[in-house]
Amino acid sequence: MEAGLNRIISKKRLSAEVFELVVEAPLIAGARKAGQFLIVQIDDEWGERIPLTIADADGERGTLTIVFQTVGASTHRLARKEPGEFVENILGPLGNPTHIEKFGTVVCVGGGIGTAPLFPIVQAMKAAGNRVLVICGARSRELVIFEDRIRPYADELVIVTDDGSYGRKALVTEPLREFCLASPKPDMSVAIGPPVMMKFCAQVTKELGVPIMVSLNTIMIDGTGMCGGCRVNVGGQTRFVCVDGPEFDGHQVDFDTMMVRMRAFKEQEDQDHRKCHLELGLEPHPVLPKPPA
Ligand code: FES
Repeated sequence: MEAGLNRIISKKRLSAEVFELVVEAPLIAGARKAGQFLIVQIDDEWGERIPLTIADADGERGTLTIVFQTVGASTHRLARKEPGEFVENILGPLGNPTHIEKFGTVVCVGGGIGTAPLFPIVQAMKAAGNRVLVICGARSRELVIFEDRIRPYADELVIVTDDGSYGRKALVTEPLREFCLASPKPDMSVAIGPPVMMKFCAQVTKELGVPIMVSLNTIMIDGTGMCGGCRVNVGGQTRFVCVDGPEFDGHQVDFDTMMVRMRAFKEQEDQDHRKCHLELGLEPHPVLPKPPA
């Protein structure tokens, strides 16, 4: 477990709202496993704790790669940091690692920014001797991330976009269904992305008899195990994503209840997001509707 000042080595803007930072964190970089996450405090040890997934790590250089979307005040502040500046605290690695073994054939599905935390799982599944089939989905071409990094580890890589601007015009469930209908069918699948995407990946795999692991990172708030914000219903039992997860059997997750809870503060979150854009002099948010006049 590591916490302390962490220097930013490099920064990349992957799309309008998605940033990649490489930061120094040698102890975490050496210890992290696929599927684990971090708690980050930007520049104040009493500041907001935000859970972020680990997209990559270099144990020799002692660096971590984190990919995040600007959704609130803290992530906007993080996006304004430049190489050479510091992040106050990075705590981790946290959460249970992904269950990795030689299953046989594994389908890995990443949606939007979920493709970043999928990358270490793809690497680990490949290293364990699996045949790894990867599906990366995004709304449009500019939101497709990590394609070049994933390709060397994928026995097959399918890119899909909602608008057809890159790869196949399809939802991720279309190639997932095709892979699951193949003979022999996959032995395992993994999905990380928006809850609605994971819900339908779980439906398709359940129908076709393929197990699926899903990562519920997006519902976490402070990662302490105390706020209760991350509780989900899995197989009729209440589980805490930050303590019991973040990965669960996708066929057991009650996604509908989870999505209702995640929408509870949507209006306030949208207002906060607009305010951050105004304060930081950024262009109006590309996705949110204009505020009422
Ligand atoms: S995120 Fe607060 S209890 Fe899990």
